[in-house]
Amino acid sequence: MKQWTREERYRVLKSADEIIDLHEKTKLSPYRQKFHIQSITGLLNDPNGFVYHNGEWHLFYQWCPWGAVHGLKYWYQIKSKDLIHWENVGVGIKPDTYYDNKGAYSGSALVTQNSIYLYYTGNHRSEDWIRTPYTCIVNLRDDGTIHKYSKPLFGPNENYTEHQRDPKIIYNKDNETYYILLGAQNKQKQGRILIYSSKEFNKNYTFAGELKVPGYEDFGDMWECPSIEHIGDQDVLIFCPQHLHIEGRNHYQHHNGYLIGHMDYDTLTFHHDGSFHELDFGFDSYAAECCANIGDPNKAVLIAWMGLPDASYPTDEEDWSGCLTMPRELTIRDRRLIQTPLPSFKELRDERLDLKHDLPRACELDLYIEGSCQINLFKSSQTDGLTITYDEESKDIVIDRSKMTKRFNIEQGETRKRTLLRSLKHLQIFIDSSSIEIYVNDGDALFTSRVFPTNEEHGLEIKGPVTGDLYRLKDAVIDNFQL
Ligand code: FRU
Repeated sequence: MKQWTREERYRVLKSADEIIDLHEKTKLSPYRQKFHIQSITGLLNDPNGFVYHNGEWHLFYQWCPWGAVHGLKYWYQIKSKDLIHWENVGVGIKPDTYYDNKGAYSGSALVTQNSIYLYYTGNHRSEDWIRTPYTCIVNLRDDGTIHKYSKPLFGPNENYTEHQRDPKIIYNKDNETYYILLGAQNKQKQGRILIYSSKEFNKNYTFAGELKVPGYEDFGDMWECPSIEHIGDQDVLIFCPQHLHIEGRNHYQHHNGYLIGHMDYDTLTFHHDGSFHELDFGFDSYAAECCANIGDPNKAVLIAWMGLPDASYPTDEEDWSGCLTMPRELTIRDRRLIQTPLPSFKELRDERLDLKHDLPRACELDLYIEGSCQINLFKSSQTDGLTITYDEESKDIVIDRSKMTKRFNIEQGETRKRTLLRSLKHLQIFIDSSSIEIYVNDGDALFTSRVFPTNEEHGLEIKGPVTGDLYRLKDAVIDNFQL
């Protein structure tokens, strides 16, 4: 595996010519996705600035152009009219000022005054590599031009460590105030959320205080990508606590989960019902971002990075890494977040195939279950592939990817288990060239994972009382080079 020097990782991209060959090479990979957003070259991580404006969905991703390595981060811009077909637009935010000299880190978007504003973390580092995070703002105008403010909104808070980032902008109508949440770490190395507020969206922010989350004072050493979404009549606090061991999550240490409750902006307290829920029970999901300005107060759209910090993937050898999950409809049922495929994904259905057919590279399995069963996906004459096992008595559903030829991140465990509250009845499984998303009982659970089948691994075997359909899916990705 290539060893990267700091100079190589943090090299500034000066012209498209520098990576056009890399893009040509990347395009040839058998693991390029057919209906998921993926890195144009190099590495993709968090989704950023997801917002709906003038009939289009705008989205960005954290992007390091040079290879499968975390280095200098840009915001790469994409857009869509239907959340399925995405157009590569080009670089959105460049790390080209003093404040963001070593990266334009994650953040969010707000539509105000009929224009899009993007809030991000300027990752400044000195010659001695001392980090200073700044909260910065840019305006994405309707003509597509991007205007960066010359000064950040505010700098670091001296009472916390260097880890202060990922601004989430929220407008609270009740008191007509803008709030910026920042993921942070206190000096005792505990995860926190800092809150800044202002009456104006683009100036005069002051530190309002720490978000109080009773019972969660010692829950991981850093909270990344925080957000509070208002869905129906409830608030949801979504965040990524790091370096935290949670029972039943093997050696996983970075999580993406949520609490449901009520946000009190007067006391800066998130009142909740006690339980931290994982957003996803699969292997590879992190840094979820929601788009809430969709005209329906009971719903949002969620998209996440289909990857994890401190992990590596088989395509690292091909010098690219990372894709996003499908965008999903987000609602609340029985005080749980429910993620379901957007109904419009049915448009991708092509030929309907028999359940005895091999798996096409991109396909959907729509299965109805009547009892204990086992489903082997990507089976070959040599290997058992990925196994989904359901036991009607215990209501356990277990995903095991240890029998695939290409194994990775083994130290984080190769099985994932979820005990369902009611019997398994329905599975919707979306398979792309290098990923699988398993939707359980229309939102009871979700398992999202990368998977890298070899050319021989395309068999499907189902044992037990299972009926349903297999659909080949049409391509939605245009893998073009746009800078
Ligand atoms: C989460 C994260 C963010 C940060 C970004 C840098 O994956 O570490 O906290 O802003 O990635 O790319």
